[in-house]
Amino acid sequence: MILFDRVSFCYNANQETSFYLKEVSFSLNKGVINGLIGINGCGKSTIARLIVGLLKPTEGNINFKNDEGTPYYFSGMIFQNPDNQIVGTTIGDDIAFGLENLNLPTENIEQLVVKAASLFGFENMLDMEVSKLSGGQKQMLCIASVLALEPNWIVFDEPTSHLDPWARIEFWNIINFLVTQSNIGIIVISQLPEDINRFQHITVMDKGSICFNDSSEKFKMLNELPKGIDFPEGWKLERLLTKNK
Ligand SMILES: Nc1ncnc2c1ncn2[C@@H]1O[C@H](COP(=O)(O)OP(=O)(O)OP(=O)(O)O)[C@@H](O)[C@H]1O
Ligand SMILES: [Mg+2]
Repeated sequence: MILFDRVSFCYNANQETSFYLKEVSFSLNKGVINGLIGINGCGKSTIARLIVGLLKPTEGNINFKNDEGTPYYFSGMIFQNPDNQIVGTTIGDDIAFGLENLNLPTENIEQLVVKAASLFGFENMLDMEVSKLSGGQKQMLCIASVLALEPNWIVFDEPTSHLDPWARIEFWNIINFLVTQSNIGIIVISQLPEDINRFQHITVMDKGSICFNDSSEKFKMLNELPKGIDFPEGWKLERLLTKNK
């Protein structure tokens, strides 16, 4: 579980002019697809950076619970554009990069690289240059490189916006696999109705605050749509049918 306990954050000292996340408290659980939505600039990526430790709260605490027994706490992030995240020249180098930074023995690194690569069918392509990969394959490589580090949580920041429809299906197959078959907590940031359709728990942000944090079943039945968010078509129909009962 991730627990935000009265977390405040400001990018600079002047709270009047800077974006201000004010005393935000909410929790997210593993085992479901957590979706984080809200209009541009409301603070979604700021929340993501706080979760993975790229930013530190100005006040309050972020606690990770029920992860006792894991070797270390680590939350990984997948950014929108894979080119900003890939650091290796080959598939194998990229997956190994984070593991090398942990100073693990070479044999362990080799095993972990093959294990992560094989989840995406990359195990026989470790020497392939990253520049030869498609956009969708690059996104998969970023996920493989984060998974190799055995994270407790992964935050995907608008991961599907660069993907074609086939790569999106592949992406969601991987998310479903991780949620059902691994102990990794999953958070996906997206505004796209087809992604919102996949979420099982939804957190809505508005100007630095959390205005909804509950199951997608409850979200579907909200009287008013959050600003800038469009429901998936199937949900609109479900709402109409339920209201007309
Ligand atoms: N490094 C920074 N320094 C100062 N202000 C920042 C910085 N990064 C983001 N902000 C501001 O903080 C606010 C929240 O940004 P954030 O990136 O969290 O929003 P977002 O909800 O992810 O938006 P989008 O949907 O466009 O990705 C914005 O007003 C943004 O301009
Ligand atoms: Mg963002």
